[in-house]
Amino acid sequence: MRRRWMAAVAVSLTGLLTLTACGDGGGSQGGSQSAEAKVEVFSWWTGAGEADGLKAMRAIFERENPGQEFVDAAVAGGSGDQARALLASKLSANQPPDTFQGHAGAELQGYIKAGKLESLNFLYDELKLRDVFPQQLIDQISVQGEIYSVPVNIHRSNVLWFNPAVLKEAGISTPPATIAAFIADLEKVKASGKIPLSIGSQWTVVHLLESVLLGSLGTETYNRLWTAQADWSNANVTQALNDFKTILSYAGTPVEDWQPAAKQVADGQAAFNIMGDWAYGYFHNPPDGGLGKSSKTDFDWAPAPGTDGTFMWLSDSFTLPKGAPNRAGAVAWLKVAASKEGQDAFNPLKGSIPARTDADKSLYKDYLEWDLAQWSSNKLAGSIQHGVVANDAWRASINDAVGLFQGDQDVAKFQQALADAAKNSGQ
Ligand code: GAL
Repeated sequence: MRRRWMAAVAVSLTGLLTLTACGDGGGSQGGSQSAEAKVEVFSWWTGAGEADGLKAMRAIFERENPGQEFVDAAVAGGSGDQARALLASKLSANQPPDTFQGHAGAELQGYIKAGKLESLNFLYDELKLRDVFPQQLIDQISVQGEIYSVPVNIHRSNVLWFNPAVLKEAGISTPPATIAAFIADLEKVKASGKIPLSIGSQWTVVHLLESVLLGSLGTETYNRLWTAQADWSNANVTQALNDFKTILSYAGTPVEDWQPAAKQVADGQAAFNIMGDWAYGYFHNPPDGGLGKSSKTDFDWAPAPGTDGTFMWLSDSFTLPKGAPNRAGAVAWLKVAASKEGQDAFNPLKGSIPARTDADKSLYKDYLEWDLAQWSSNKLAGSIQHGVVANDAWRASINDAVGLFQGDQDVAKFQQALADAAKNSGQ
């Protein structure tokens, strides 16, 4: 199984993902409705930037389903670091929300194998969704021909966000394209007195690790780490972890979550931040939900060092848990999430691109225009922290290893812990 879907991950999606205006893709139609039924939608999109996209989809849901009450069951904490633990306990107590956010890939495969999800083939048939999602993405959310979620977007993990004025002050004319150049630039920023690299809570450090592994190892070797041919004890992994140690030595004091870390860049306190492109929504959205900043002047971006030509991807998807208290309401939500209208309302605000291939390209401007072009031409690698390559137990062990490493800085111990995590992953 692992090899089958990793093979799919490694294939470039060129051509498949070209946006074409074929068919209207449909607005959403409401599901069957009972009076004043509550639909509990579980996610972790509470914070500045991310809540905007959810609000836009919610407005469509409420318009289309007057008999259903949307209940926002979002749990704060970027990357679902709090939400995923709570969800696991709700699922094991057989008290699922009506629908929940789950990442396409290994994370979702875990929920499927645990028997927690209903197949959505009926919905894919009814809405002809097989025609509008890329086959490789469908493979990530399927087991034996049954499809278990509705992907709402594609996010890019390997983005280097930077403040152009801070770089200029430090004598840096172009963003670093390699790990070695990145380290040299971090040193220059340090000498200028600004924070070289901002970081947030622990998961943001795991997020940084995935970009450093990709940039240091290269795409093929990185992708092999998640297959039966993986060699976590290899000298090239040692080198990548040493790079990570050096890069981390330039990090500022950890702040609370990804938003305050990104804000240090936007405010000119820090030079660099490696974060997914939800940061774009936060930087760019108007001040009631975002920072209202302008790209190229207040903030700018480049591929994370050493990763140009590779798109480290992840995808948010929504599910229908077995035993959902309001199944009809959940299906109505999934119809909005699957629709062209829903995806085109959600993604420009979320800082992501649509999972559907027939979206309205003209809505994706600035960073998002670049993002679409990268997605349709780059090689692919899957995110660790955001559920693509490692199931939740494996991701949690990697998080623990990173936490210990932040304390003891011992590369050999760290590498051993990562090798053990891979061996014990059961994936
Ligand atoms: C990811 C999620 C994104 C965004 C990010 C930061 O795991 O897929 O949609 O929410 O976390 O919270």
